[in-house]
Amino acid sequence: MRDLRISVTDRCNFRCPYCMPAEIYGEAYEFLPRADILTFEELTRLVGFFAELGVEKLRVTGGEPLLRNDLPQLLGMLNAIDGIDDLTLTTNGYLLSQFAQKLKDSGLDRITVSLDSLDDEVFKAMNGRGFTTERVLQAIQTASEVGLSPIKINCVVQKGVNDHTIVDLARYFHGTGHIVRYIEYMDVGNVNGWRSEHVLSAEEIIARLDAEMPLEPTESNYQGEVATRYRYRDGSGEIGIIASVTKPFCGDCARVRLSTDGKIFTCLFASEGVSLMDPMRAGATDDDLRELITGIWTVRSDRYSEERAASPNGKGSPRKIEMYQIGG
Ligand code: GTP
Ligand code: 5AD
Ligand code: SF4
Repeated sequence: MRDLRISVTDRCNFRCPYCMPAEIYGEAYEFLPRADILTFEELTRLVGFFAELGVEKLRVTGGEPLLRNDLPQLLGMLNAIDGIDDLTLTTNGYLLSQFAQKLKDSGLDRITVSLDSLDDEVFKAMNGRGFTTERVLQAIQTASEVGLSPIKINCVVQKGVNDHTIVDLARYFHGTGHIVRYIEYMDVGNVNGWRSEHVLSAEEIIARLDAEMPLEPTESNYQGEVATRYRYRDGSGEIGIIASVTKPFCGDCARVRLSTDGKIFTCLFASEGVSLMDPMRAGATDDDLRELITGIWTVRSDRYSEERAASPNGKGSPRKIEMYQIGG
């Protein structure tokens, strides 16, 4: 267990059809009530146990994490926990400009911004809200100026939706020091109607980019890194590819996830989590909670992406957790 992701809200201001389709998550949709969300104190207590058990990397996600009230205060609390040496956050960037400096001041080390296309028409459809790219691009610039770097840009590639814009995205960030990561479209959750035919494989993504801006593979930053790295042969930076569909990486997964309502999930595709919030609110001691976490982790045997690779459009697992409940 090295890498913990915590979802601090299940709300989002975007409605990306592959995650939170607007038809399902409309105005009347009821997100979690406040009482069912871990408080800052509860989160800090739990993250402390994870850190004692080996977690060094902490990623704050959502939903959209910047929608959580007083987020910089929480980041300050998390940053003070012994053992956490990489504190980062994944955001859709829409509210980032106004928060960037506060996030940096509270101890956030770096940031990942989701941006699926630079083409406004494509982007409008992919965020489900008709927002243009302007605010997100401005926010990336602001985040860079305040030092939230290296900045990573996540792009989910869907065949026939945004695959014709992936080269433009790479070209825009080429030479800026920001790292675009192309993510193979995945069958997370239950609502996006995923089919393997919608996936542009890592191999095809690389071939298209390489034809315009020559690339060469480079070594991983650390064991278990989800992105495979490539650098531009002209020395002006790198990109990453997250090939969880065509080249699953379950084997060295050291990631654990905590949902907004305080359940621990040992896989992005899990059906069930185990509540830490319930025992904690019922008065569990520190030792009880440590034992509960260790017990869950030591028996885990998740390898969903490998199983899917064996049967791409097969039935998959029964009902999966949604991405916006546990972040990425
Ligand atoms: P760095 O800390 O910068 O290396 O980032 P990271 O690799 O932890 O990246 P991030 O959390 O941004 O993950 C990128 C994306 O990879 C996520 O949004 C998911 O789409 C995907 N991903 C991350 N973890 C897993 C995993 O365990 N399984 C699968 N199938 N996909 C994952
Ligand atoms: N497949 C791949 N990536 C996804 N993300 C959300 N849903 C999917 C999916 N079905 C990405 C988002 C964001 C990160 C948190 O996960 O675009 O970058
Ligand atoms: Fe919001 Fe991220 Fe899901 Fe898009 S992928 S709807 S930005 S949580």
